[in-house]
Amino acid sequence: MRVAIIGGSGHIGSYLTPRLVEAGHTVLSVSRSQRKPYVPHGAWNKVECVNLDRGAEEEAGTFGVKIRELDPDAVIDLIAYTLESTEALVEALRGRVQQFLHCGTIWVHGPAIEVPVTEEQPRKPFGDYGIRKAAIEQYLLNEARRNRFPATVLHPGHIVGPGWVPLTPAANFNPAVFADLASGKEIALPNLGRETVHHVHADDVAQAFMKAMANWSNAIGESFHVVSPAAISLAGYAEAVAGWYGKEALIRFLPWEQWRASVSEKEAKVTWDHIARSPNCSIRKAQRLLDYQPRYRSLEAVREAVAWLFANGVIQAQTIPNYLHCP
Ligand SMILES: NC(=O)c1ccc[n+]([C@@H]2O[C@H](COP(=O)([O-])OP(=O)(O)OC[C@H]3O[C@@H](n4cnc5c(N)ncnc54)[C@H](OP(=O)(O)O)[C@@H]3O)[C@@H](O)[C@H]2O)c1
Repeated sequence: MRVAIIGGSGHIGSYLTPRLVEAGHTVLSVSRSQRKPYVPHGAWNKVECVNLDRGAEEEAGTFGVKIRELDPDAVIDLIAYTLESTEALVEALRGRVQQFLHCGTIWVHGPAIEVPVTEEQPRKPFGDYGIRKAAIEQYLLNEARRNRFPATVLHPGHIVGPGWVPLTPAANFNPAVFADLASGKEIALPNLGRETVHHVHADDVAQAFMKAMANWSNAIGESFHVVSPAAISLAGYAEAVAGWYGKEALIRFLPWEQWRASVSEKEAKVTWDHIARSPNCSIRKAQRLLDYQPRYRSLEAVREAVAWLFANGVIQAQTIPNYLHCP
């Protein structure tokens, strides 16, 4: 198949684009050509890189037409953030593609009632990003079910891989907490540390897109969570990280307002955004209908990412023996 992947060189694309090539597809990766993939792979020699700035093209009203002119059988849209953007692309591609795969987010859910949360549960998103993504999901599933537009929506959790900072045990992106845990230093966590985060390795997200294409008759008109087999609590996550480096986690638990005052405003906001949702999503639907089989549990995925941070000097711990640097 001819597959156009919009945003094909980022976290997900670094794994998905080579997988598409290896599966024998002709792959067109659409981006501004500013980013290099996180993982080098010979498959990139076979990828046709299409240089387009989505924002600029959308303003000119030409983005959808330019994607259509690539004559793809399938389109994977990794970087749609507004309903208008997706609507315009769907109008340009209607009747032209066998499958349209949109990358959503588990933030289409608000705080959970019953966990793990299934795809069937009513959407109660909060915050601009989740609300917009939920509107895109609703639109695409409606287009698929009423108008036979062949849409599939995949909702990743917190995407992890070597090359960037994973969501930390403090539920933000300040990697210093990893160095502190690895050095046996005390860290502070909000509340009782029992709120949850739900990671997924970028290669497992790529696997899910591949399987949604391979099982298209089950995938069209459906949305799927794409996360690791189980969410983790902040305190459990911290304990595991310390354990990788032969340490006990020393954790001080602070009431939210006190914890919030101990970090920057930006970190506090990111942490709040995550713990207010405390995602814990089910993958049973993706397992059943797509044969999604994540290779990584949450801690395995994070461990690989943290090892990369230490190995590349992004963070340094004071007391890690050399043999423990690469878990
Ligand atoms: N990150 C997470 O933890 C997370 C969690 C859940 C869901 N998601 C979803 O995942 C998707 C993002 O995937 P990702 O994390 O793989 O993305 P990413 O790492 O941010 O990569 C973005 C890709 O899009 C390209 N790009 C950015 N701006 C562009 C523009 N204006 N025109 C054309 N290309 C552009 C980038 O290349 P250039 O810069 O070279 O153009 C790159 O290939 C989003 O739909 C998001 O909602 C992410």
